[in-house]
Amino acid sequence: MKALVLAGGKGSRLRPITHTSAKQLIPIANKPILFYGLEAIAACGIREVGIVVGETREEIQKAVGDGKQFGFSKVEYIHQKEGPLGLAHAVKIARPFLQDSPFLMYLGDNLLKQNLKPIAEAFLSQKPNAQILVTPVPNPQDFGVVELKNGQVLRLVEKPKNPPSNLALAGIYMFDSHIFEAIETLKPSGRGELEITDAIQTLIQKKFRVTVQTISGWWKDTGKLEDLLEANRLVLEMLEENSRPATFTQENSRLEGRIRIGEASRILGSTLRGPIVIGRNCLIRDSFIGPFTSVHDDAHIENSELEHSILMEHVVLKDVRRLQDSLVGQRVEICKAPNKPQAYRLMVGDSSRIEIP
Ligand code: DAU
Repeated sequence: MKALVLAGGKGSRLRPITHTSAKQLIPIANKPILFYGLEAIAACGIREVGIVVGETREEIQKAVGDGKQFGFSKVEYIHQKEGPLGLAHAVKIARPFLQDSPFLMYLGDNLLKQNLKPIAEAFLSQKPNAQILVTPVPNPQDFGVVELKNGQVLRLVEKPKNPPSNLALAGIYMFDSHIFEAIETLKPSGRGELEITDAIQTLIQKKFRVTVQTISGWWKDTGKLEDLLEANRLVLEMLEENSRPATFTQENSRLEGRIRIGEASRILGSTLRGPIVIGRNCLIRDSFIGPFTSVHDDAHIENSELEHSILMEHVVLKDVRRLQDSLVGQRVEICKAPNKPQAYRLMVGDSSRIEIP
């Protein structure tokens, strides 16, 4: 079995972060979202992976490289030049890579707890034409929705105004080569895309066999800020133990709960309350860092408090009274105004969002 990972698209709901970087590379517990998917694929024993890339292809290629770090024997980058033209379009252009092999398709911004291996094995042994994964959600109108009858798939519909059930299609699918025939018959949807949901619906109408598996454990589509923070929380909740390298220094500080700290970081006069991950080469002085926070490499945090947030690389926080529920991009500096008049002084990129007390 091969795998096809979709890492194109624009990430418009995560601007400004996605002006300069791919949404699939936003770190969750200091690791790019995409890497969780690639690791899950590798754990299924899959060795050949195609990655559909768009405008951010250079960055994704730089991060994943030849895939040896995941144990892959081959990684092929498939450039979706125009687009995004939809998930089914991405599958269509991947045909030369996939050929007639059965394949696992993974949406690069999805994250799930469950081990995919038994699900992949069920697909390979039962040999349906397609296998989908579903999970109940409170907001089915935001996803592909699946209607079941006696455990059989009756109907799939993409982001319906009146959802026929609360079962969302998770972004992990398994197909045999019949999916290509179904894609050939598709017309663009209301949002102008070739929808994989419609392709699977076509398989059902043509009496091909589509099976369904319910996800156990959590699943997240990380398309929005709230989802990213929740994914970060869910991953940090699974942090098993403290890890502190020999090169880390701690002075006059309290470290409570599960905390992972990177090489050469220094924690001085501060309180850290896990679960937290701190990257390499960070300096944290006279500060409080509360639960469910990820601080990436080279941060400098001084006289500040933060909680339930994601800080990307090279962030500086100085004299920040309290930061929470935030995603802070690379090389951002937040500090107290040095002199009067007391005012907010900002240099903020396009599409940023700032909430002030
Ligand atoms: O996350 C699950 C949902 O994913 C499903 O419930 C929906 O049925 C399915 O259509 C999809 O909906 P989204 O609107 O969330 O898909 P999104 O546009 O966010 O794209 C998902 C991933 O695929 C993302 O990593 C970007 C990539 N992509 C997307 C498109 C449209 C591509 O590589 N090429 C594309 O043309």
